[in-house]
Amino acid sequence: MHSPADFQQSLLTWYDQKGRSLPWRAKGHEKPNPYYVWISEIMLQQTTVATVISYFNRFTAKWPTVKQLAEASLDEVLHAWQGLGYYSRARNLHKCARQLCLEHKGIFPHTEKELMALPGIGPYTAAAISAIAFQESSVVVDGNIERVMSRLFEIKIPLPAAKKNIKEVAASLTPAERPGDYAQALMDLGAMVCTPRLPRCDLCPVHSFCKAYGHSPENYPYKAAKIPKPTRKTVFFWIQNDRGEVFLERRPPRDLLGGMMGFPSTSWATKGHDLQNPLDKVEILKEKLLSGIITHTFTHFHLVGEVSFIQANHTTLVGQWVRPERFHELALPTLMKKVVGLSEKDMLVLPYGECL
Ligand code: ADE
Repeated sequence: MHSPADFQQSLLTWYDQKGRSLPWRAKGHEKPNPYYVWISEIMLQQTTVATVISYFNRFTAKWPTVKQLAEASLDEVLHAWQGLGYYSRARNLHKCARQLCLEHKGIFPHTEKELMALPGIGPYTAAAISAIAFQESSVVVDGNIERVMSRLFEIKIPLPAAKKNIKEVAASLTPAERPGDYAQALMDLGAMVCTPRLPRCDLCPVHSFCKAYGHSPENYPYKAAKIPKPTRKTVFFWIQNDRGEVFLERRPPRDLLGGMMGFPSTSWATKGHDLQNPLDKVEILKEKLLSGIITHTFTHFHLVGEVSFIQANHTTLVGQWVRPERFHELALPTLMKKVVGLSEKDMLVLPYGECL
């Protein structure tokens, strides 16, 4: 009992008994309403089923048909969308409704290709609408289905590289009959049984087809080994003038923390320190490397910094000179606040004359 037909039958029998009853789905022997399928698929693109339900109900109560939606103003549509986010979806929905009325007499085309020519309908949404609304045997693969397939076939390739493979195996199982129910059955299975963590394999209607069953299914989709972040080192300069003011500069717009105020530093290099040294512009009276370090993690590296305290006699530095008690007015980034913290800890933030 391991043919695609057996798989489809086990899954569809389960769906008929345990599938979710959702407001956009046809009940019993009703025909699906393409307008409902379209609205729900657009809303579900970035939003959970639980949130979409009330929006879908209000939206379709206000505009029961695509023609009525096309006659609404964009402002009204955006207003009804408020709280769902990703507002380009609402703009495209409205544009699509108008295009459907102007070019298709308000009737949805059936095929993936024709659907993809409409605003806001990409490959996934075209496949879902054509399968659910028009019984085309399109291969529908959303995040839930990706997880189900990667477990069924123990796909040991991390996403996104595994997508092609997943689409192929999904295609090998897609039925010619009831393709819309089949796609939604896989979505429900992914949402209720084949969950990301603690999957309920005991409740799964297709566990006998699943290669990962009993072999840690929660490890799929496969995750790529995390690349360890490199550590970069720097020295920050706390440069203080004879008025007790400390030098701050605006960081270059395209650098990390671009456009924000900060203490000058050597470059945040992987190895050693560079030659571009802000101290070239400073006549140094006293200099001391503070004890302690600061650490900060960026997306791609850890930064370890030391802080050098400098009492300057004279400088040609261009930037802002600020007394430490006014730092709070500057909205310094966290990294720079850590520099302040280390300096305070070393008791250096004292009125002029008392430092060091
Ligand atoms: N997610 C996207 N489309 C869906 C549908 N038709 N049913 C349940 N979840 C979904």
